[in-house]
Amino acid sequence: MRMMEKVYGVIGSPIAHSMSPEMHNDLFSFYQMNARYHAFHVKPENLADAIKGFRAIGISGFNVTIPHKIEIIDLLDEVCEIAANIGAVNTVVNEDGKLVGYNTDGLGFVTSLRKKVDHLENSRVLIIGAGGAARGIYITLAAEGVKNIDITNRTHEKAEELISTCKFSAVSNSLSIEQAEKDLANYDIIVNTTSIGMHPEIDAIPINLTYLSPNAVVSDIIYNPLKTKLLREAEQKRATIDNGVGMFVYQGALAFEKWTGIFPDTTRMEAIVMKKLGGTIC
Ligand code: ATR
Repeated sequence: MRMMEKVYGVIGSPIAHSMSPEMHNDLFSFYQMNARYHAFHVKPENLADAIKGFRAIGISGFNVTIPHKIEIIDLLDEVCEIAANIGAVNTVVNEDGKLVGYNTDGLGFVTSLRKKVDHLENSRVLIIGAGGAARGIYITLAAEGVKNIDITNRTHEKAEELISTCKFSAVSNSLSIEQAEKDLANYDIIVNTTSIGMHPEIDAIPINLTYLSPNAVVSDIIYNPLKTKLLREAEQKRATIDNGVGMFVYQGALAFEKWTGIFPDTTRMEAIVMKKLGGTIC
């Protein structure tokens, strides 16, 4: 008897432009798996019904994107420790009928970063921003044993709050942007998690790089454009740069691994994302 095709997907609103279906369906056919990944447009008022429907059809797993990453938590049976501390879930696995939530965004970022950094644990990190994306990255870096992680954010209180809610030990200060700019030479890794520099405001930059060390890695989670003004200036200063494609690819790879047990070929995934975005990777 032929096995039923496994169903996977992503829920969000909007969702039409998601690159995830193409990325995961390519992997399912590459690994010859009888499975299919769909994009589902789910509005906030329909989230609970959608999850009920997923339970009824026995969905194998799904990704969760904006605006559902926080609200989904109350609708799941279990949430892993890191996702609970972040307060957001982007990957759900159906584990024998139980829907279990994980967060592969932060770990996707860190896994991608490790390709460019040798001793991440001992690196001094500066995060720009204290919103949802920063939460995932800050808490995962702390959980991975990175000792020194400072945050600079327009709204100082949000950075303070993020530092105080983290359950993993890290030494952290909340700095004004001016202070962070003055102290920039102290950091090995600088991460922009804000939308400053994203299309169409491509001439905006979140921090002045005058004192950037050429040994630093500058990472921007934005991938539209592929090279933000922050990355362009960092490159001119001979620093190593990293854009948001890696984080996107690795969050998908880690989700795929949770669903199938296979850590997939990220080169294939990257090629699909780059084809969709157009341009060359940095
Ligand atoms: P996301 O989930 O993408 O992180 P978010 O939760 O809305 O989005 O957070 C956006 C982050 O970018 C915040 O840190 C925000 O600063 P505030 O906390 O002060 O709002 C920051 N940000 C966005 N636009 C900004 C701007 N023009 N100048 C400075 N910071 C900005």
